[in-house]
Amino acid sequence: MAWGRSRNKDEYFQSSRGLVSRVCAVLLFLFIVTALTIMMTLFLVHPHSPGYRLLNVQITDLTITALGSPIVSTDPDDPVDSVLNSDINVSLECDDKNHHLGTYNGRLQVILYYSGIEIGRTEFAPFYQEAQNRTVVLGVVSIRDHLLKRSAAANLNADLTRDAINLQSEIAARVKFVYGIWKSSWHRWFRVKCDLVVSSPTASTGSLIMSQTC
Ligand SMILES: *[C@@H]1O[C@H](CO)[C@@H](O)[C@H](O)[C@H]1NC(C)=O
Ligand SMILES: *[C@@H]1O[C@H](CO)[C@@H](O)[C@H](O)[C@H]1NC(C)=O
Repeated sequence: MAWGRSRNKDEYFQSSRGLVSRVCAVLLFLFIVTALTIMMTLFLVHPHSPGYRLLNVQITDLTITALGSPIVSTDPDDPVDSVLNSDINVSLECDDKNHHLGTYNGRLQVILYYSGIEIGRTEFAPFYQEAQNRTVVLGVVSIRDHLLKRSAAANLNADLTRDAINLQSEIAARVKFVYGIWKSSWHRWFRVKCDLVVSSPTASTGSLIMSQTC
């Protein structure tokens, strides 16, 4: 009796040990799968922003023309009294520092502002950026008959005289991530805003970025 009981007990312990180790193996497997899934998700969903940077901004020509009669209806204290025409060449660097994720720049724009008001923008053709590589794209912001308020025209004329034009830039990128043949169905917008000082077209150096703070 005692022997039988002890054998039953052994069998009981052996089978329960077997069950425990199977449960442990399953739990360990689930844990590893969950950890890998979380790591993959973090890796894929929280990728680094590609680095966007304006390499140069060149004002190829710029004219401010006074209107025959100011438009007072907009703001009697600061009427629109001039128009701005200009062509501004921009070169933009896109630097993807992600280790394995390529980026698809579905929309990529450079928007320029003067005194916080948009004066023009340029959009680049979509392109794919390989991981750990950089691309430089060129564009022209064409500003045609942009209305300027009296204060903005006065400030811009003063900037021209000093050969130091204060602009603000915004780089807006709508990006999908690419990993091998997988391309994310979702996209993310990245925006880089900077204050620029650009020399005028008549500056002895030619027009170029004199300072940039982002
Ligand atoms: C500005 O860009 C246009 C068109 O790409 C080009 O023809 C022109 O030479 C550029 N101007 C300067 C000063 O780089
Ligand atoms: C980066 O891209 C250029 C042009 O597409 C290519 O020649 C170069 O090999 C690439 N570099 C790396 C590290 O992939």
